[in-house]
Amino acid sequence: MVTAQTPTNIAVIKYWGKRDETLILPVNDSISVTLDPAHLCTTTTVAVSPSFDQDRMWLNGKEISLSGGRYQNCLREIRARACDVQDEEKGIKIAKKDWEKLHVHVASYNNFPTAAGLASSAAGFACLVFALAKLMNAKEDNSELSAIARQGSGSACRSLFGGFVKWNMGKAEDGSDSLAVQLVDEKHWDELVIIIAVVSSRQKETSSTTGMRDSVETSLLLEHRAKEVVPKRTKQMEEAIKNRDFGSFAQLACADSNQFHAVCLDTCPPIFYMNDTSHRIISCVEKWNRSEETPQVAYTFDAGPNAVLIAHNRKAATQLLQKLLFCFPPNSDADLDSYVIGDKSILKDAG
Ligand code: DP6
Repeated sequence: MVTAQTPTNIAVIKYWGKRDETLILPVNDSISVTLDPAHLCTTTTVAVSPSFDQDRMWLNGKEISLSGGRYQNCLREIRARACDVQDEEKGIKIAKKDWEKLHVHVASYNNFPTAAGLASSAAGFACLVFALAKLMNAKEDNSELSAIARQGSGSACRSLFGGFVKWNMGKAEDGSDSLAVQLVDEKHWDELVIIIAVVSSRQKETSSTTGMRDSVETSLLLEHRAKEVVPKRTKQMEEAIKNRDFGSFAQLACADSNQFHAVCLDTCPPIFYMNDTSHRIISCVEKWNRSEETPQVAYTFDAGPNAVLIAHNRKAATQLLQKLLFCFPPNSDADLDSYVIGDKSILKDAG
């Protein structure tokens, strides 16, 4: 039995669009920041026993079907890389060839409410692949494992590393070079504070998978974004991260989020992930950033209305919370569902 824990990640240069749906190969590179494992993470335990007669999985205590292609792809790829396991103390001996016949049971928990609209398959598939690899003694490094997690959910490949992570889209037809690499570790820029403002806890209407399929088929802006914009922007973002240049970082992250949502609007039929509250948060941050010498906060929105706000430092995070509490007073018509932050003392500082 093996237990692993994996945090979710938030893209600052978005992945949106696949060039191969089965292998999950993207149309552009993307860059993300991995959250602190203490918040928004998945814990997965995988177990093997000769008494198990089929592969089974429970998510937050409820059994789910493993028949979907994405789970099967991950299980098959890890089984193909399984090695001999021998633990004399525990009297365990499993030969490489036995893994083909043995079944696994998987129990996975999210430490955040699944219905909060934050549930991301990223942490889930990354954790599943990592735990299975450890159980089956696969020798692959995290980048190689990321290419397997990618086949569960694209964004999952970036959750195998901490810090800032780049998913190289790759060129190979078999997807062997479409994998994640760590740009810098979590210590490199540790004064950043990430606050998630939960605008709505409802499940999104259009899944990322369906949305990006429609965008690839119908949006001309997506083509322009993937070919002309993202290649340059990715290089600039890498520079900003290496130099801890928050001004450039915020400008690039906000522009990329806005362009991703513009692509959604350019899709036929159009996809609306953000709502009025999301737009008001953007206006609030933009106004504040423009009144300062350099931006204090970056915003980015995934396939839903919730805002991910990245503050330059603790002081900016405290000020941000004060502004949000002022603009969206709790228990008013405009209040937010909740704030998800790593450090409770910042919320206290903000009153
Ligand atoms: C907007 O990774 O959930 O969060 O590969 O179809 O499972 P599939 O999609 P998924 O898409 C994530 C889209 C995004 C941007 C990002 O994380 O880069």
